[in-house]
Amino acid sequence: MAHILNDNNLIAVLDIGTSKTCCILAYPESEDKAVIVGAGSYQSNGIKKSEIISLSLAVDSVRHAVASAENFIKERIKTVVATACVSTLSSTFIQDSLDIGGREVTQSDINRIMKTAQSKIPVTEDEILHCIPIDYSLDTRHSITDPRGLTGKTLYLSLNTVMTPPYPVRDMNAVLEQSHLSCSKKVASPYACGLACLTPEEKKQGTVVVDLGAGTTGIGVFYEDQLIYCTNIPFGGNQITQEIASTFKTSLNSAERIKTLNGSTLPSLTYEQEEIEIPLIGEDETVSVIRIPKAKIVYTIVPLIEELFERIRFLLERAGFYEICLNFVLTGGGSQLHGINEKASSILQRNVRTGYPVKLFDKNNIIPEHAYQSYMGCIGLLSYTSRILLNTPAHQRDVTTTGNKIIRFFRWFLDNS
Ligand SMILES: Nc1ncnc2c1ncn2[C@@H]1O[C@H](COP(=O)(O)OP(=O)(O)OP(=O)(O)O)[C@@H](O)[C@H]1O
Ligand SMILES: [Mg+2]
Repeated sequence: MAHILNDNNLIAVLDIGTSKTCCILAYPESEDKAVIVGAGSYQSNGIKKSEIISLSLAVDSVRHAVASAENFIKERIKTVVATACVSTLSSTFIQDSLDIGGREVTQSDINRIMKTAQSKIPVTEDEILHCIPIDYSLDTRHSITDPRGLTGKTLYLSLNTVMTPPYPVRDMNAVLEQSHLSCSKKVASPYACGLACLTPEEKKQGTVVVDLGAGTTGIGVFYEDQLIYCTNIPFGGNQITQEIASTFKTSLNSAERIKTLNGSTLPSLTYEQEEIEIPLIGEDETVSVIRIPKAKIVYTIVPLIEELFERIRFLLERAGFYEICLNFVLTGGGSQLHGINEKASSILQRNVRTGYPVKLFDKNNIIPEHAYQSYMGCIGLLSYTSRILLNTPAHQRDVTTTGNKIIRFFRWFLDNS
């Protein structure tokens, strides 16, 4: 596993977000346990709507975040597992079957069905981030956890293939290269967030993690312990900030401050009386202040949030997953907006809670509690690395972990044999 671990068995994870870039360093101790020894974050520059728009600015943010994490251990890291810095994620489902002929299923049957299923992935330029076995069936027996050793006639496999357009990934590679880092695996951000904050029960039952970022909103559906669906909506907290800035003719900085301090999704009679100050930017660039009822800020935010959750519900209904999604867990900076759980719950008609890291092995309190939402992507990457990359049995493994090249090779091999 030398390509995943740094010297001294160190895991390094990196989350390049629209608003901040975070890095955590940890030692894997056992499955599901990585002890944090360093962390750093830095304001992201050169990222818009979760994609890179300036290589040099993004490199600068990555270098700062990584350097502050390295500072804890006084060592340099070379390789990272990172969230994919992309604005578009899509799930494609692939199903395949294999004739077993009434004998016991073996590991080599699993390998074979995996390969033939992968060969059915539509050939496009898109980058494959994940290729996750989400269901095995044997004849009429469905949701089999481990088919090895069971007897049957036909083995069926369903794969969830998470894809993203190629060019943003290449830009991300360029940023990492210029930051003198190699990347052993890119992970879809909603996948990482789900691993960070969903309980084992939630991952089994059917739960949606909604990652409310600055540039995009990520959606990940977990069921029977696997990520079965993943997508992104090109709407993030920055758009709420922009709406406040343009409605009240104030700067983006002021709008951001007003949103985080006074924003809410719950209209209240007291907000009609409560006044807040808004610095106005005039054409001559002089700044004056107006006072408005807080209710006006709330009325600006509410339609945007309502539209977002209606869209999430629509996407899940269209993909056929809404019925199995019993709970919703909100993460990312936007989950800190006052009243968002109540608003989401009324639109989604489901339980909604805020996500917090399920487990954090941080004996020295390197990550302060108030920063958990910012580090959620990285915390999930730690879980992904220690659990999925290093410890998952082969029949459940995300098969892209060995790199897309393998999948491409299999496709080429099957196409040409
Ligand atoms: N209290 C709050 N109320 C409302 N919004 C908040 C609050 N705190 C943070 N935010 C918003 O959260 C967003 C940042 O979230 P986060 O750090 O998850 O984004 P990111 O990971 O950098 O972006 P992305 O994942 O979209 O690329 C910003 O838009 C910020 O305004
Ligand atoms: Mg993010």
